[in-house]
Amino acid sequence: MLQIAPSADEMEQSKHIDSLSNENSKIDLTYIAQSCHKLLSQYQWLTNAYMSDFFTNDLWDELNPKWSKVLNDRDPKELTCFINNTFMECDPRKKDIWPLSLLSFKAATQCYSLPRTPIKTESLFNNSQTNDPNGLSKNDKEEKGAILNGQYLKLEHSFRRHVKPKKQHEIHRLSKLIHNICKSVDCDNVVDVGAGQGHLSRLLTFGYGLKVTTVESASSHAPKAQQFDKEVQQDIKKKNGKISNKNDQDVCNDQQNDLPNHIVHYIEPSVDPSSFAKSLNLDSSGHFVLTGLHSCGDLIPTMLRLFVNCPSAKAIAVVGCCYMKMTLSSDVGFPLSSYVKRLNPVLTWETAELACHSIDSYAAQLKDGTGDVKFQSYRAVLQTIIEKRNPDATAKLRCTKNKSFKKNKNLVNYITSRLEHLGLDANLTDSDLETVESLSAKWRNYGAFNMLRLSLGPVVETFILIDRVLFLKEHGLQCHIIPLFDSQLSPRNLALVAYK
Ligand SMILES: C[S@@+](CC[C@H](N)C(=O)[O-])C[C@H]1O[C@@H](n2cnc3c(N)ncnc32)[C@H](O)[C@@H]1O
Repeated sequence: MLQIAPSADEMEQSKHIDSLSNENSKIDLTYIAQSCHKLLSQYQWLTNAYMSDFFTNDLWDELNPKWSKVLNDRDPKELTCFINNTFMECDPRKKDIWPLSLLSFKAATQCYSLPRTPIKTESLFNNSQTNDPNGLSKNDKEEKGAILNGQYLKLEHSFRRHVKPKKQHEIHRLSKLIHNICKSVDCDNVVDVGAGQGHLSRLLTFGYGLKVTTVESASSHAPKAQQFDKEVQQDIKKKNGKISNKNDQDVCNDQQNDLPNHIVHYIEPSVDPSSFAKSLNLDSSGHFVLTGLHSCGDLIPTMLRLFVNCPSAKAIAVVGCCYMKMTLSSDVGFPLSSYVKRLNPVLTWETAELACHSIDSYAAQLKDGTGDVKFQSYRAVLQTIIEKRNPDATAKLRCTKNKSFKKNKNLVNYITSRLEHLGLDANLTDSDLETVESLSAKWRNYGAFNMLRLSLGPVVETFILIDRVLFLKEHGLQCHIIPLFDSQLSPRNLALVAYK
């Protein structure tokens, strides 16, 4: 197992990652891509590990012995200190010397994590500093208090209906960004791809007066989207043209808005850009801004290819998710850029999936105490018992949803109920019970190993996003990566924006 320490050069480079959202910065993106590739190649044994194999594959023994010694039997709260870089102050085991290789690992993962503090969307197009030097901008600080009784109060009531608070926050921020982009490229047609029930498109239409077409493959969404659109239209009629622009709320436009046009269509990765543009039936200019909120699988790579090859597409603003659903082979999902293709990266499902987790949310879970980590480790204990009965049944376990442990009164009940569910012998022998007892006592180590693994998640996301940025730059386009949402509310909070 190799360890790497970031060189002085790499540390310097990491400072530049902070300015990725600044178009004028002179960041060597290829250097960042190469460094992420190097780091992920060295730790692929960690990113490719399945946590449910923790006991069956003795994953703890894969660690550098110096790491396992210092991390052994750490309480979740102590692991939080490691994640938050406060372990020097709060380590109760003062005699433990933290190995430099572990500290280097930690520094390297931070080096190649993109900044996640949300920016002021307005600042993007006025050449001002994109990140408030003090962290959150005034507006953003107010956002923290914007959720009350499960409602995101910055958004007018009409746009909150049927929408969860997390999504309310996302559409509030993304619609502002899209509105700014539309102004800057002088275009009022927006195409929202993978629009789901059209919550974003509704706000863009009735809040900002933009002309929106949605393209969504699931046919069940369009009828709901149309129903919700009509509800907002009714609200506007009732308000009788009164505009309330108080308290930074999104405005219900009093003008007669066209309803969004909802198209049910699956966009193939090989879609032809000109027939796509024609199928949208837009006005005479035919120009449009492409967007997608939490576009999953191959959708973002497909949209990026569409964007570069379609002259009518003037700008794009997309936020990704579910990276593991991408086709992990060149020219479809990942990699897209010629530069990253030359590195020959091997991104597995497990590694791509890691980019969908949030180390900050894990830190919050750890801080809350023992519960969650302990329960997560029980699935790995269950797998050991299953393997003893029938190794083939492990694959079956992977395909079943992890039932909440909390419903079962104790670990033995949980294991027997899961064995019954899988049609296996549910009688636990004395030897089984001994195994359960000894493995379950090691839940803290399970938590520590998971923490190390999750620390690499942001690096995977950086690698995927830098590849997309390089692809756009190779086509001569300007682009930004923008931390748009509050990462505590919405961990997939990085928007990729490009324009022509
Ligand atoms: C994670 S959901 C996001 C929905 C919506 N944007 C939101 O934020 O609520 C992704 C959506 O993309 C749609 N989708 C995925 N691949 C697609 C494709 N190739 N063409 C059209 N829609 C697609 C899915 O059906 C799904 O509704």
